[in-house]
Parts: sequence; structure tokens; C-alpha cells
Amino acid sequence: MSRFNVVTTVPEFERKLRTAAGGTLTGNVQSIPSVPFPAGPEEILARQTGEPLEVLVLGPGIPVDKAIKLASVFDLMYPEISVILVHETTEKVAVQAMRSGVRDLLSPDADADAIRVMLERACLAAASRRRGLVPPNEPERQTGRIISVMSPKGGVGKTTVATNLAIGLAKFAPMSVVLVDFDVQFGDVASGLQLNPEHNLSDAVGGSAANDSMVLKAYLTVHPAGIYVLAAPSNPADSEHISGEQVGHVLAQLASEFAFVVVDTSPGLGEHVLATLEQATDVVWVCGMDIPSIKGLRAGLGVLHEINLLPPGRHVVLNFADKYSGLRVQDVEETIGVPVDVILPRSKTIPLSTNRGVPLLQDNVRDAAAKGLRKLVARFDPASQSKPHKQVHRRVVIS
Ligand SMILES: Nc1ncnc2c1ncn2[C@@H]1O[C@H](COP(=O)(O)OP(=O)(O)OP(=O)(O)O)[C@@H](O)[C@H]1O
Ligand SMILES: [Mg+2]
Repeated sequence: MSRFNVVTTVPEFERKLRTAAGGTLTGNVQSIPSVPFPAGPEEILARQTGEPLEVLVLGPGIPVDKAIKLASVFDLMYPEISVILVHETTEKVAVQAMRSGVRDLLSPDADADAIRVMLERACLAAASRRRGLVPPNEPERQTGRIISVMSPKGGVGKTTVATNLAIGLAKFAPMSVVLVDFDVQFGDVASGLQLNPEHNLSDAVGGSAANDSMVLKAYLTVHPAGIYVLAAPSNPADSEHISGEQVGHVLAQLASEFAFVVVDTSPGLGEHVLATLEQATDVVWVCGMDIPSIKGLRAGLGVLHEINLLPPGRHVVLNFADKYSGLRVQDVEETIGVPVDVILPRSKTIPLSTNRGVPLLQDNVRDAAAKGLRKLVARFDPASQSKPHKQVHRRVVIS
């Protein structure tokens, strides 16, 4: 039996919440008056009877600034209680909510099923926080999808694909996406997103963060598009002190907190990449439309197949697709031995977006490359999975 509290002025939302909590969750919902607005956690907790509070739902209908202020106090004083904010997702609200420790953002129009999923996640988070410190070697419950963006060859578009994928996923899973830069030596995710991280992977693998996912979360940097970022070390020499075991542990911790963990990697199959593959649920293989890249991918897939290290989800992105390359998509598929899922044409907008530090999908650009990136995002969106697939014409276009 779980305990949910709600502060809202919208009876219809409260009705949906009660339906959501009444199914498999078997939780009690207690309504807290919104006028006067509770001055602090004590006013809410003083009303508690029975089981301790697990999830506090704020909104809809209440002033968002007051809700966010209350959420930050809960985060400080009662981090074991998950707070859900019900509000339309705008960039401003998402960033404020992330900074204040709100667990999830929920649309006021969400139906009872969507509310139930969110309550379940919030209950899981509350339970893991109540458990307190997790012994370092104990495997944690892995709830999120870990998507590793990889290629044996360098410069084929991994960072471009990883950043756009994370931003695209945040459109249907705001605050539930973390982008991790495991190009440990020369990672450029933070600079490519115009971020100045206060903390990075070196902090995240050491001491208290390795034992406590809440501390780890404090080492992430918030990006205005509604994602968290774990930046690579600022000094390339620091990479020597980060082991494969440590990056594996960070991934498991993040997957217990986020629905999607997108990992940008360095080229090749080094220690950190192999450790990522051990945890990954999905790999996005990025391949350039040139023979070295295609042969590299074939060899990489072969080796990983031999050592049984291929995660269940496979997504192949053919980047820099160009009809003047002298190759057809079919040639690529025959060489690598698996189908190409997404084609990204060589595009003028991508280098421009890299240089501006604003990913294509943040900017809502409409061109063939952005279309390809959206198609990749849709492969991870449960709502798109249920839609019938259109007939795909596999041809290479240039922008
Ligand atoms: N489809 C494309 N069309 C044109 N330019 C592209 C395309 N995809 C990526 N680029 C450009 O290619 C360059 C390399 O891309 P990116 O940094 O994403 O590759 P990478 O695989 O992460 O490289 P590294 O192996 O060095 O980490 C960037 O300047 C990017 O803007
Ligand atoms: Mg890169």
C-alpha cells in the first residue's frame, strides 16, 4: 500500500489520480487544500495518518512558482519523498523543476494510465531513496534504458547522434533523460551543448557519489532542453584514473534514476566502451558512408558477436549518406550483414548546429537530417511503436 498526497484545484485531475492509484498500485490518495497554499512540508506531513508519504503530486491549478519552491524544500528535507509537478512542459518550467529536485513532470491532460506509470516510477525512486546507501558492489535495480551510441571509427557522427537523440527523447520524457559523455579522454558533449559543468565524470565515480545516487544526481548539469548531462573529465589525463568497472557502476546508478541513459562513446572498443556494452540495453551504431567505416563496423559487430557482448536492441544509423559516394545502402547492408534502420544524409545544417552548440532537434529544424534523427528517436518512443509503420523508400538523398 502506498501513500500519495495531491494539492490541486482541478477535481477532474484528482479523479484521474485516484483511478490511477487504485489499480495495481493499491495506494491511498489524500487531498491537501491548496488555499492557503501549504507553507512547508510540515503542514502537509502533519496531516498524515497511516502509511508514510511516498509521492507528493503538485498541481494542476496551483501557482507553479509556489509548487517549485515547496518541491525544493522537500528535496532538501525529505529526499525520500518523490515530488511530481503537474504542469504544461515549457523549457522554463522544465529547467526550474529539474533544479528544484522535482522527480517528474506530468501533463495536466495525462490519462489515468500515464499517471499510473509515473506514480509507479516515483514509488520506485522513493523506495530506493529510503533504502539509503547502496553497497558499492551490490547490483542495483535497473529500470531505465541504456542506449550506447558507438562506432569503431572516429568522426562518423556519434556525438551529433547522441546529443540529438537525448534532446529528442526529452520531448516525450522530460527530465527523464541523462546524456553521459564516456568519450572519457576527449569528450565534447558539454562544450557542444554550450554547458560549463561544475562537476564531471571524475567526481561521479569517486567517493560518495558512487554510493549514493542522490549525490550522483547533484553532479549532473542541467541543459535547457530538459535533459541532464554527465560531462567527461575536463582534463584528458584524468581518464587514466577511471576504470571500466566504475563507468559500469555509474550507468547502473543512472538507469535506476532515469528512463533513458544515452551514452556517447569514444571510437573503437576500449575498456570504457566494453563496460558500457555490458550494461547497455540498446546500441545505436553510427556508420559513415565510406569503406573504412563500413568495414570497421562489420569487424566490430563480428568481434562483439563472438564474445557475446551485443545488447538486445540494435539500431544502425548510416550517416553522411551521399549519392555521390559510389555506394548504395544495399551495398552497406550486404557488407555489415544487418539492415540500416535510419539514413542521415550529408547535411549543411549539422556542422552549422555543431558550431552553434544547438542540436538540430532543439532548434526544431525541418530538413532531411532532422527527419532522420526524429525517426531514430521514434524507435524508442512507446507511443510511436504502436503506430503502423509506413512503407519506407530506402534511397539516399542529399540536402
Ligand atoms: N550528416 C552529417 N552531415 C554533415 N556533417 C555532419 C553530419 N554528421 C556529423 N557531421 C559533422 O561531422 C563532425 C563530426 O561529428 P561528431 O563529432 O558527431 O562525430 P564523432 O563520431 O562523435 O567524432 P569522434 O569520434 O571524434 O568523437 C561534426 O563537425 C559534425 O557537425
Ligand atoms: Mg564524439
